[in-house]
Amino acid sequence: MERLQKVIANSGYTSRRKAEELISKGLVKVNGVTVYELGVKVNTNDLIEVDGYIIKNENKVYYLLNKPRGIITSTSDDKGRKTVVDLINTNVRIYPVGRLDYDTTGAIILTNDGELANLIMHPKSKIDKVYIAKINGLIGKSQLQRLEKGVFIDGKKTSKSRARIKNYDKKTDTSIVELTIHEGRNHQVKKMFESLGYDVLKLKRERISFLDVNNLKSGEYRILNPKEVKKLYNETTK
Ligand code: URA
Repeated sequence: MERLQKVIANSGYTSRRKAEELISKGLVKVNGVTVYELGVKVNTNDLIEVDGYIIKNENKVYYLLNKPRGIITSTSDDKGRKTVVDLINTNVRIYPVGRLDYDTTGAIILTNDGELANLIMHPKSKIDKVYIAKINGLIGKSQLQRLEKGVFIDGKKTSKSRARIKNYDKKTDTSIVELTIHEGRNHQVKKMFESLGYDVLKLKRERISFLDVNNLKSGEYRILNPKEVKKLYNETTK
């Protein structure tokens, strides 16, 4: 048995707070009866309707995928291109948490747990997203510090990050930089480097919080165990 507002949030319909508002406004029915109180408990057999929309109270599943290049981060594509969801063998309706660009590789979580997805993607989330970027040229200490303090992209300053250079290849005049951010703005890493005049030639998300893809080949995935899921919840609320 789980609280009604949690089940609605878990379905991905909305956040837990908004679900509470919907219940208080009389927009939620359980087995055909409108429920006004918060905290009513439901199980997987109960029929839940929110504003006429039926919520599925399914078991939650969690996957960690090592996304290959050339795959879109979406549940479907109108041009018929392969999506990250197509790479997972499941009948459950899952969706990716956040977004990696078509040409970006690495860690991405897929789930049907809307609450965890919202917590991870929340702009104030404390979850580390660790990227390895190959950029043109040599990046100096002062530029790394600028990235760390925040740079302006699309007119808004990025929040504090961590940046360190891992390697510089003199032959190709390229640097490998590890950048750890907490937000997930559109093309954030590429735009952060571009704001300083660098082009990102290659980008991989190496880690989301404590979950890395070191043991997964490109295109491989694994199911997260309940301990890892609990830990992720804890990390989002630290
Ligand atoms: N930042 C980007 O620029 N691209 C990604 O795919 C992820 C983060």
